[in-house]
Amino acid sequence: MEPLPHGIRRIGVIGAGVMGSGIAQWIAARGCDVLLRDVQPACLDRAGEVMRGLFDGAVERGKLSAADAASGWRRIATTTGWEGFDTCDLVIEAIVEDVAAKRKLFTEVVARVGEDTLLASNTSALPIEEIAGHVPNPARTLGLHFFNPVSRMPLVELVVGPATSAATAARALGFVRALGKSPITCRSSPGFLVTRVLFFYLNEAVRRWEQGVPVLEIDRALREFGWPMGPLRLIDEVGVDVTVLIFRELAHYFPGRFAPTTTCGWMLAAGLKGRKNGAGRGFYRYEDEGEMINEQELVSLFSGRSTGGPVPARRDIAGELMRIMVDEAQRCLTAGVVQSPGDVDFALRSGAGFPASRGGLMEWARVAGIV
Ligand code: NAI
Repeated sequence: MEPLPHGIRRIGVIGAGVMGSGIAQWIAARGCDVLLRDVQPACLDRAGEVMRGLFDGAVERGKLSAADAASGWRRIATTTGWEGFDTCDLVIEAIVEDVAAKRKLFTEVVARVGEDTLLASNTSALPIEEIAGHVPNPARTLGLHFFNPVSRMPLVELVVGPATSAATAARALGFVRALGKSPITCRSSPGFLVTRVLFFYLNEAVRRWEQGVPVLEIDRALREFGWPMGPLRLIDEVGVDVTVLIFRELAHYFPGRFAPTTTCGWMLAAGLKGRKNGAGRGFYRYEDEGEMINEQELVSLFSGRSTGGPVPARRDIAGELMRIMVDEAQRCLTAGVVQSPGDVDFALRSGAGFPASRGGLMEWARVAGIV
């Protein structure tokens, strides 16, 4: 394998959940040593199984030779402690999405790593300066936002905060490219580009359901537009828990403009977590025979839903929800979160599944005469 540029050879990954295990496996498969840390030994055990499965799958699909997969696997060490972090060139945290937990973690990390070790967060939405701005030498902090599943999604948002130095951003950019991922640079701001645009859209899709539009109509409308899955099915995939957290974050950062829907909160309280981590119920039920819409259970949980009104045409549902995305993407462009409509189009295609047949979000909006 090619030697990696910018001297980043040994990477600490903290948090061995869905994202941490995916990031650790991907990096190790591309020739770096990885030290994966979690506070719960059971999470490290599960991550070990997940990473083994990813290596096996890569061999089966012809993406890695058996020998490269075996060396990749050997490059991963796991720990519940801090031994070995002093020699890491880069640490990427992927713990729970919580400002206080992440701030505390960065305080702990800086006490164990070298002064120049790059410090990155995989946060979905939190501005990097809020979680890592307090560390000594914050010029080395940044966001590296990988997408789920890491093994399939090429996009990484490289998030540059007010303190991030140009040297840090350049080093990280070289590293991400050497990993075979496709980075776009985002200015640090809540939700960066993809989370912000996507979750404004998901929230409005849930609002349509609360207004009485059936799950089937909403998801079919967007599939007919070309999305590989509808927005409610996508919430199940992302996780109802993650969705609730991100809705909360966006409501906090965009008060008055982001009015969070409440259905996902009700669902979570009732144990409907979507499909993440093998959970079996959300907007759909996932059973051996296949997946079925879970509308009846949702209706029984949510007393405030409107019923009996006319159901809009699918074309109108899709048009309205796409318009929400376009408006938010335009705000991101105006605020300089990303540089160009081409960045928006690339990011939403490669990070969110926007239909390639439509070119890209802004391209579609231009053709549709919206912008
Ligand atoms: P997860 O809940 O699957 O995993 C989090 C892991 O962190 C758990 O194993 C937990 O034991 C561990 N942990 C918690 N506190 C810790 C600490 N102080 N030290 C070490 N380990 C600790 O979470 P997931 O979904 O992997 O998300 C992680 C981060 O990645 C979050 O910031 C999330 O917003 C972000 N993210 C999630 C995506 C997703 O689709 N799930 C996509 C992109 C980013």
